[in-house]
Amino acid sequence: MPTKLLEDLPGVGPATAEKLREAGFSSVEAIAVASPGELVAAAEVGEATAAKIIAGAREAADVGGFETGDRILERRKLVGKITTGSKGFNELLGGGMETQSIVELYGEFGSGKTQVAHQLAINVQLPKEMGGLNGSAIIIDTENTFRPERIAQMVKGLPPAPDGQERDPADFLKNINVARAFNSNHQILLAESAMDLAEKAKDSEYPVRLIIVDSVTAHFRAEYVGRGTLANRQQKLNKHLHDLMRFGDLNNALILVTNQVMSKPDTFFGDPTKPVGGHVLGHTSTFRLYLRKSKGEKRIAKLVDSPNLPDGEAVFTVTMEGIKD
Ligand code: GTP
Ligand code: MG
Repeated sequence: MPTKLLEDLPGVGPATAEKLREAGFSSVEAIAVASPGELVAAAEVGEATAAKIIAGAREAADVGGFETGDRILERRKLVGKITTGSKGFNELLGGGMETQSIVELYGEFGSGKTQVAHQLAINVQLPKEMGGLNGSAIIIDTENTFRPERIAQMVKGLPPAPDGQERDPADFLKNINVARAFNSNHQILLAESAMDLAEKAKDSEYPVRLIIVDSVTAHFRAEYVGRGTLANRQQKLNKHLHDLMRFGDLNNALILVTNQVMSKPDTFFGDPTKPVGGHVLGHTSTFRLYLRKSKGEKRIAKLVDSPNLPDGEAVFTVTMEGIKD
């Protein structure tokens, strides 16, 4: 699908297009979700022109159209669940982490976000009767925290295979595709190219059923500092999350993202126990989980604002063998 040029939008000439790009509105999609005030500031156009540009962008952009209920039902029937490795944690989620949904893990450093992500990259590969989906995983690693050695340890810690065969960690590592993202734009591009990778794997033995972005907000947070950049940041993050959501729908995959909590209560971001990213990430995540440390290996997962499950907590442990009860 060829992307539309900004210049094709009503009210946008070459000079305005240039100003928009400079301000970070690099795509029609980004403009479609902008507010008139943002465009006024970015492109030095009047309110009326800004409204016209946004209306044009909404028409042109692929912001998701309507789908009939029966098609949605068909798609929902394919939803699969991936075990976390902990019975209590699974129960909190209604049986495991669901495909076609975004699960956001947020919490302070060492709360276990990356550990859970590693475990899911393994568990997705398990057969259905063991809580997996016979699938492969994609990891967009923004903090360079992916460790193949840790995967090997966790594979050794899996319950015995149904056929009694010894497991080879190398077999699991083959089905985990990892890319490091060097900045937020690179991260967005990687999510787009993940689509191609998944397309190629579609009819293979292990189709992609999981995409992890660890951390989804760190680059955005580091690059967009200061009050004036907030709208721009939210907009890019919003586009990125929608790309990921589409990935999940098209591939029947789980989207697992991690997020930090704010560490400086004195900044304008506010509450230190609130996740970074504000309301954009809040409304997009289907399941938000707040992880926190407890005694020793114990961790507590709290389900926050789930649309169809009661809020609650579960205790799990991060052991040498991986995530357990
Ligand atoms: P940030 O990315 O820094 O925000 O933290 P995070 O939430 O991703 O933390 P992470 O998942 O990396 O958790 C790190 C914690 O997991 C460590 O403090 C350990 O308690 C635990 N952990 C990591 N590796 C091992 C291991 O091999 N054995 C055991 N028992 N625990 C481990
Ligand atoms: Mg981490």
